[in-house]
Amino acid sequence: MNYKTFITEQVEAIRRSVGDGIAINALSGGVDSSVVTVLAHRALGRQLKTIFVDNALMRAGEPRRVVKVFQDMGIPVELVDARKQFLQALKGLTDPEEKREAITRTFYRDVFAKAVKRTRATFLLHGTILTDIEETVAGIKRQHNILAQIGIDPQKTYGYQVLEPLATLRKDGVRRVAGLLGLPSSITGRIPFPGPALAARIVGEVTEAKLATVRAATAIVEEELQDTGAFQYLAVLLNDYATGIRKGKREFGQIIVVRCIDSVDARQATVRELPWRTLHRLTRRITAIPGVNRCLYDLTPKPPATVEYV
Ligand code: XMP
Repeated sequence: MNYKTFITEQVEAIRRSVGDGIAINALSGGVDSSVVTVLAHRALGRQLKTIFVDNALMRAGEPRRVVKVFQDMGIPVELVDARKQFLQALKGLTDPEEKREAITRTFYRDVFAKAVKRTRATFLLHGTILTDIEETVAGIKRQHNILAQIGIDPQKTYGYQVLEPLATLRKDGVRRVAGLLGLPSSITGRIPFPGPALAARIVGEVTEAKLATVRAATAIVEEELQDTGAFQYLAVLLNDYATGIRKGKREFGQIIVVRCIDSVDARQATVRELPWRTLHRLTRRITAIPGVNRCLYDLTPKPPATVEYV
C-alpha cells in the first residue's frame, strides 16, 4: 500500500463525509486514536473536537503528556476530567467483566454523550483497525464495536454517524502512517496499553489507593524495561496480601506482579528471560512503594495466561 496516497485519500474522505458539520473523537494517546486525530485535524481543522478523557485510570502524568504532544503539533485537545465518575462507577466492583462494562458505560453513556451534546457533533471518528474488525467477527475480542455491544445504536441514540478511517490497516500500517504524519516516537513506538487502563491491572476492587500503588509500580517497570525492546511490560496489583518485615516489624503487605512479554500481535506471547540483575533491581524499587512487600515475576506464556490480569 502507498501510505502517502492513503493519507491523502482518507483526509479527503473525512472532509467529504463531514461536510460543514462537526466531528468529535476521543484521543487515548495510543497510536490508532492519535493517527485518527491528525488525519481528521488535517481534514477538518476547527470542525474537529478532540477530547482526552481523564478516567482516573491513566499512568503517571499521562493525560497532560498526551495533550501536550498534540498541542505542540497545533492540534487542540480538550482534557475532560471525569475521574470522579469513573471511580464512582467502579466502586464495589470486583468481577473483571463488570469492571470493564462499568468503564465502557461511563465513557459512552455519561462522559462522551455529554461531550457530543455540548459540541453538537454529528460524526464520531473512531480508530478501529482491520485486526479489531477481524477479531470481533471471530469472537476473540469482546470490547470492540463497543456501542453495539452494550445495545446502543449511535445514530438512534446520539444522532451521530461513526467514521473509521483506519479500518483497512493493520497495526504496522498505522505505525507507518503515524510516522508519515510526523507523530513523535513517544506515540508511534508506544507499547500497547489497554482501554480499561490500570483497572485491567488491579485484581479486585479499583480504589484510588490501589491505583496509586499500581501507577507507581507501572512507572518503575516502564522505566526499567524500556530498553529491552520487549512487546509489552507491565505491573499488576494482586488482591492478596502476604506477610513481610519492614523496619523490624511484621506487616501484611501488597503483592505486585511484573510481566514482560514478547509477541507479534498479542494473540500469543512468550515470557522474556530477564537478567537476574534487572529482576533484583525491579524488586528493590517496587518493594520500596509504601504497602508493597513482595514482587513476583510472571513466567506464564499466553496461552494459557492472557497478557492482562483482569
Ligand atoms: P489479553 O489480556 O487479552 O491482551 O491477552 C491482549 C492485548 O490487548 C491488550 N488489551 C486491551 N486493549 N482494550 C484494549 O484496547 C482492552 O480492553 C484490552 N484488554 C487487553 C493487552 O494490553 C494486550 O496487549
